[in-house]
Amino acid sequence: MSSKSLVSISELSKNEILRLLGQTRFFEENPNQKILDGKIVATLFFEPSTRTRLSFETAVNRLGGRIIGFSDASTTSSSKGETLRDTIKMVSNYADLIIMRHYLEGAARYASEVTDIPVINAGDGANQHPSQTMLDLYSIYKTQKKLDNLTITLVGDLKYGRTVHSLIMAMGHFSPHFNFVACNELKMPQEYKDYCREHGISFTEHTDFSKEVIYSSDIIYMTRVQRERFTDIMEYEKVKDLYNLSNSMLEGAKKNLKILHPLPRVNEINIDVDDNPKAYYFQQAKNGLFTRQALICRSLGIDVPELNFEANRYFP
Ligand code: CP
Repeated sequence: MSSKSLVSISELSKNEILRLLGQTRFFEENPNQKILDGKIVATLFFEPSTRTRLSFETAVNRLGGRIIGFSDASTTSSSKGETLRDTIKMVSNYADLIIMRHYLEGAARYASEVTDIPVINAGDGANQHPSQTMLDLYSIYKTQKKLDNLTITLVGDLKYGRTVHSLIMAMGHFSPHFNFVACNELKMPQEYKDYCREHGISFTEHTDFSKEVIYSSDIIYMTRVQRERFTDIMEYEKVKDLYNLSNSMLEGAKKNLKILHPLPRVNEINIDVDDNPKAYYFQQAKNGLFTRQALICRSLGIDVPELNFEANRYFP
């Protein structure tokens, strides 16, 4: 197996996605595997993170590898003016794999082009978050027992939300219908609607998070309005509280409905939803560990015992 970067979810074919989901299942059943002995993984986080960084680092630790890196770029020489290019070249002298989050769209692509070691994009601005998408697919599969022909409702910040952008592209392999629920200021960018049209992905746009939308959904994917993406704080204040999900709104929803959220949440999901069996966001985050174990092995070219991923076989 050769080593590979993962910058955009679009780099993964349907078969590769299914194979990675099977490997994720393997790691969920067997999380402690000493298969990264001698490997050093660098986690470079130029933006804050809890789940992505800690689950990637836990994944490396559970696989027997070692971690270097930073979670606060102000402590590095980038604060002295060192360029991203030079930073990546330096880290490439020390590590076998770079996992990077950056506030600029395209930063992960750029990093992958200036180094010979693989780069995994852990989120670049409002662009892409492919490892999140793999854990989202795994969570959808686990809860729905299938990926095909689902109605998925994306709610909140669809303009800057990198997780929803990546998810649309990946779900395109599985004939979904999307409801896009957002205010005009945060609606799905034209390029992703064009992507849907070009790839035959059905979608409808809504400004109202209505009962009809909720009752038609197999998955509701809530997102946070991201203050850090706004240049005008008044614009943020105007839209930050428009969509809130509470328990009473779920009465009458489909039996199989699950609520996902990439997290962190602010107040878009009321805490009274947390104890509802339809709430799946904390388990979703846990799935990130196993997903990222599979992605790290892919990037390092390490063979993983492959479970033959077949519908319903591994999720009874
Ligand atoms: N979902 C996600 O990316 O969470 P963090 O920002 O905490 O990594």
